[in-house]
Amino acid sequence: MSDFTKRDFAKAAAAAALGITAAAPSANFAQTAAESRPKSAPGAAAGFPDGFVWGVATSAFQIEGAVREDGRGASIWDSYAHTPGKIRGGDNADVANDHYHRYKDDVRLMRDIGVKNYRFSIAWPRIFPSGTGQPNAKGLDFYRRLVDALLEGGIEPFPTLYHWDLPQTLQDKGGWQSRDTAKAFADYAGYVAGQLSDRASHFFTVNEFYSFVDLGHRGAEMTVDGKKVRIEFAPGLKLSNAKLNQARHNAVLAQGLSVQAIRANAKPGTKCGPADNLSTAVPAIETPENIRAAEIATREMNAGYLTVILEGKYTDAYLAAAGKDAPKFTDDDLKIISSPVDFIGLNIYRPAVYVVASERAPGFRPIPFNKSHPRMRSLWHVLGPEVMYWAPRHMQSLWKTKEIYITENGCAASDELSAEGKVDDSDRIMFLRNHLAHLQRATAERVPVTGYFHWSLMDNFEWSDGFANRFGLVYVDFKTQKRTPKLSAAYFGEAIAKNAVV
Ligand code: FCB
Repeated sequence: MSDFTKRDFAKAAAAAALGITAAAPSANFAQTAAESRPKSAPGAAAGFPDGFVWGVATSAFQIEGAVREDGRGASIWDSYAHTPGKIRGGDNADVANDHYHRYKDDVRLMRDIGVKNYRFSIAWPRIFPSGTGQPNAKGLDFYRRLVDALLEGGIEPFPTLYHWDLPQTLQDKGGWQSRDTAKAFADYAGYVAGQLSDRASHFFTVNEFYSFVDLGHRGAEMTVDGKKVRIEFAPGLKLSNAKLNQARHNAVLAQGLSVQAIRANAKPGTKCGPADNLSTAVPAIETPENIRAAEIATREMNAGYLTVILEGKYTDAYLAAAGKDAPKFTDDDLKIISSPVDFIGLNIYRPAVYVVASERAPGFRPIPFNKSHPRMRSLWHVLGPEVMYWAPRHMQSLWKTKEIYITENGCAASDELSAEGKVDDSDRIMFLRNHLAHLQRATAERVPVTGYFHWSLMDNFEWSDGFANRFGLVYVDFKTQKRTPKLSAAYFGEAIAKNAVV
């Protein structure tokens, strides 16, 4: 460091210590920015709306274990996890967090943190062991007992119907490549909603279309630190474009059919909607032109999933790009796919891309992530907390969405239990605080976000990454099943108690 920069650095450090910003923006700029933001009461800047729903999320396959108990059938993830070379470290989820037997302790854990809402998923092969046919009473009974324990503990249940564990029998008949799977899903969804809507009033239909369709049927490649990394999920196929597009279509068809089945079978007033990982474009610099560019990009990047669900048609650009490989569909399919939902769940981990406006079609220029762009522990996890503001805001401006839940957000970290039995996960607290701050900005600007579920309650089986990537607020020793709340659990509890960014 030269003398000059050293001096500058010292000056900046001294100013920072006194709470002074080195370069204040011009008075004019400050005024315009302030005027364009809604007024909120002094001191209320970091607060969330009254009644904001604070929760944690998990999924069946990642925590339950007990894969052969009480009549559960096999799922594609059982088969995939037992295929040599597919899961890091050769892990599988036969036991996972043993939540099937320990659910009461886990409900208590949530209560201790101060969590009031819980998003969990129902394992389709526990309810219909071979996908269709006779329901398995013992499987359903587990979720009844879980929901009762939650309600007793003052925790509101938010079940998800499909978090990727397709019954293997259905895969053997074509899986998501077959329209029949969409119908089978609707039957299962309608049955479960009919059975559980006496005690649960919100159901998430399908979790993350891109993840189980694209990553399961094609996989994706990304470059991390100059190395090519392949990301793949069950069933681990590599389909042609035409087949992949048809599988995508069957998945959104399942979404629409399940909404209809839930409406037909559940208690009146039951609400439902998907939980999707919207690919979100973030304006690199916040100007009206760049914001518009980010909206255009977001709409196109999601053309096969949320866009068709919310607009009832595939975009022209999507169909043109697919050409002869475009999905085959009828007008009636589009009506089913766009069956009105009560809310949209968003799983938000990272921006898909930064953009600026461009005069050239399609109206945006993607800005690649710099090589030095920071990321969290998972290789795919580039850091960009602003996405937490832009994702719901785009939903509001593109589709006038009336109710949004953040159904997942969180990060893996290199958590280790210290000799004193503590896990001080500074990076997760940093991640949470920054994401909540951007979410709070959205709610302050009246973007209709009703709640936030942190992924995850506890460390669990992180799909192809096995147990290596720990996402929990609670540390799990997978040898003893001992649960230890991390420092981030205390942070999250404090945010819940204050209903604010803390
Ligand atoms: C999401 C999944 C969830 C979990 C997190 C880290 O894509 O929905 O099951 O694995 O990522």
